[in-house]
Amino acid sequence: MSVIHIGGFRRLCGRIPVQGSKNGVLPLMAASVLSEETTVLTNVPAIQDVFCMMGILDFMGSSCLLENGELTISPRDMGRTDLPACRVKQMRSSVILLGALLGRFGQASTCYPGGCSIGKRPVDYHICALRQLGAEIEEEGGCIRAKAVRLSGTEIRLPYPSVGATENVLLASVLAEGTTVIRGAAREPEIEELCLFLRTMGAGIEGEGTDRITVRGRKRLHGCRYRTVGDRIVAGTYLIAAMAGRGDVELTGVKPAHLESVFHMLRKAGAAVSPGEDRIRIRMEGRPRPLWAETGPYPGFPTDLQSPLMALLCCGEGESRIRETVFEGRYGTALELGRLGADISVAGEEAVIRGIPILPGGTAAARDLRGGAALVTAGLQSEGETIITDCFHIERGYEDICRDLRLAGADIRWLERKAKEKKE
Ligand code: EPZ
Repeated sequence: MSVIHIGGFRRLCGRIPVQGSKNGVLPLMAASVLSEETTVLTNVPAIQDVFCMMGILDFMGSSCLLENGELTISPRDMGRTDLPACRVKQMRSSVILLGALLGRFGQASTCYPGGCSIGKRPVDYHICALRQLGAEIEEEGGCIRAKAVRLSGTEIRLPYPSVGATENVLLASVLAEGTTVIRGAAREPEIEELCLFLRTMGAGIEGEGTDRITVRGRKRLHGCRYRTVGDRIVAGTYLIAAMAGRGDVELTGVKPAHLESVFHMLRKAGAAVSPGEDRIRIRMEGRPRPLWAETGPYPGFPTDLQSPLMALLCCGEGESRIRETVFEGRYGTALELGRLGADISVAGEEAVIRGIPILPGGTAAARDLRGGAALVTAGLQSEGETIITDCFHIERGYEDICRDLRLAGADIRWLERKAKEKKE
């Protein structure tokens, strides 16, 4: 059981360093198995999802060591291409190992991946695209078995700019024969990072950051050393937390260019946002102005910040509206915010949030990672105490949300914390 206690509203002032990106580093870990040589990733966050991916790689015979943010992966002795079901059920990102394993070994098997319950989250785009590259894929009894005598480059048109499907195609195609063109590719910064990393390993890729990525297959890739980018979603969470604390906070270790749509939204809500080269200062006075916000694939407003934004708007100066267009199951958090005194109604894709001056506090359960961060945001603008249960969800993606927010003066602490799982 992991439980967080928040003592109530405090004005937040201070500087918070931002951890390395979860959704950035997980694909890099998967990509590292494409070479036999050792890869060293730095600025790696010590979070449960990273430990889970390390456990999967270890199970397959590759050795992983994480020390002081430096992760060394040596995949030379990898002997297995089947993913361990217990880990795969914990984490969505495990599915991108399909592409990487097909690329290096020509075979892979896994059960369907788990992860946050924020929607149905099928993997049909992944499977269809891998088949187009020449993989034979069987789906039976909750398992996916893939093999390919040879993967061959081709043109693949994704029906939606899925982040995971784009990653899977990239990982499968860098060692394929010939050229692959991904049309309708996702443009998220995590895709750019993966392409940069793969290029550092020797891959031939161009076009990342646009919806058309070209991959020229290579015979082999080599190991490398690479620094993981700062986590734009953790940064966004703390910007919103700073607004909830009507504060003056500086975040360091981020790429402000990744957060343009977020700045736009937060400025509309009344914040003064000043981006620097690798830092962002945010100042907020008074209650947020009401907003109309819609989520969308990058460069749209990120779905991962929808729940924290909703929590902030619970104390907005009027009625706000949010439209969630990416994950249909994100609004479970609205119910939990209701337990903390928020006035929210949901109809289909749209949520209406009627702001009140301050929340009373109470007890609520984190239902997913970003939903948990939203409850923390709510607790920061409450007059009473807030207790958040099931915070293991938060630990999947935030190294230590209490430590970080205390740096800005928040009254927040762990009442209980799941012991760091590491790899066992
Ligand atoms: C990634 O998930 C992130 N996860 C998510 O972050 C993020 O919310 C999401 O991208 C959107 O930005 C990781 O990077 C590990 P998608 P992913 O494939 O790749 C549908 C967090 O909190 N779809 O772009 O799973 C899908 O159901 C997490 O850090 C299909 O229908 O997202 C969704 O509606 C949560 N079939 C939409 O596309 C498919 O085969 C976008 O999903 C694939 C996706």
